[in-house]
Amino acid sequence: MNQAIQFTSLEKQLLQLISEKPTPLPELSQILLLEETQIKELLEHFKHLGIAYTITQNDDYFLPCFFDRIDIHQLKQNLNHLKLELFYFDCIDSTNLFLKQAYFKSPITCCLSEMQTQGRGRFGRPWCSPYGLNIYHSMRLSIKLPPNQLKGLSLVVALALCEAIEEMGITTKLEIKWPNDLIIAEQKLAGILIELIELTADACQVIIGTGLNVNSLPQDMPDVEQAWTSLYQLTGTPIAREQLIVRITNKILTFISIYQQTGLKSLKTAWIARDYLFNRTIEVLQGTQPIAGIAQGIDAQGRLILKDKDNQLHFLESGEVSIKK
Ligand code: BTN
Repeated sequence: MNQAIQFTSLEKQLLQLISEKPTPLPELSQILLLEETQIKELLEHFKHLGIAYTITQNDDYFLPCFFDRIDIHQLKQNLNHLKLELFYFDCIDSTNLFLKQAYFKSPITCCLSEMQTQGRGRFGRPWCSPYGLNIYHSMRLSIKLPPNQLKGLSLVVALALCEAIEEMGITTKLEIKWPNDLIIAEQKLAGILIELIELTADACQVIIGTGLNVNSLPQDMPDVEQAWTSLYQLTGTPIAREQLIVRITNKILTFISIYQQTGLKSLKTAWIARDYLFNRTIEVLQGTQPIAGIAQGIDAQGRLILKDKDNQLHFLESGEVSIKK
């Protein structure tokens, strides 16, 4: 079962208060009309979830990061036309997992959370998901294509994300590292995790999970080893996430509709312009077998084309890429 949590209004108020300034317990107690022990219990709950508040030398409580919960009413109004079912949580194990484990009546279901305790990336790696800063967004929908034509889906979603982000006024070039990483200024900005769940001969239920670093600063995600950045780090300004979520949702649906009609054909030019790996010397790990060569773009199905040292071409459906030069 999923562990989906929605905070009470008291919990939300407490988070808001300690994010505004370091605040002593008596003051919190006075504002929230709660006993100090009750406040401590709520704080203990946050700590248990991994919400990294600090206690200063003066015994003040402080959440030292940008804090702005998603305005879910505004979001629902803006997504209304899509007739999708939207779930929003303060905390969940994983938004992808939530959509996998339940039955939904709408053709399109979307799950968002302010944090994830078991956010996952490709190859089962953890996806760092601190509270209230980034976007953890999953969509479940049916795609009218046979399973063997879905190899290019992560590329299509990546292209959709790039456009959604650029429409927010981001001018630095966004590139895509095959098959699912968004790269900006040589650092990872977002990742996509696609899971195919119900396959028939001519359609598939898919879950498309997007993790996008929006307002996190280095101190918010100290354990991430890969070079990463966020939109806030790039622009120097925190970004309200609602509009970005609306754009992401709309763009993914638009791009999937194009993909259903034309395959990758009409998206090829857009891909070429964002192909981060093109002409780079890389190594692709498939299972335990690395293949080295020079990246030569993608084929009509979205497979990576790799030219090895003997000039032989390899067409790769999946794998982990590392750059050698
Ligand atoms: C990757 O780069 O390896 C993919 C990362 C995908 C992370 C997102 S966050 C929302 C959704 N829920 C998850 O558990 N994973 C995806």
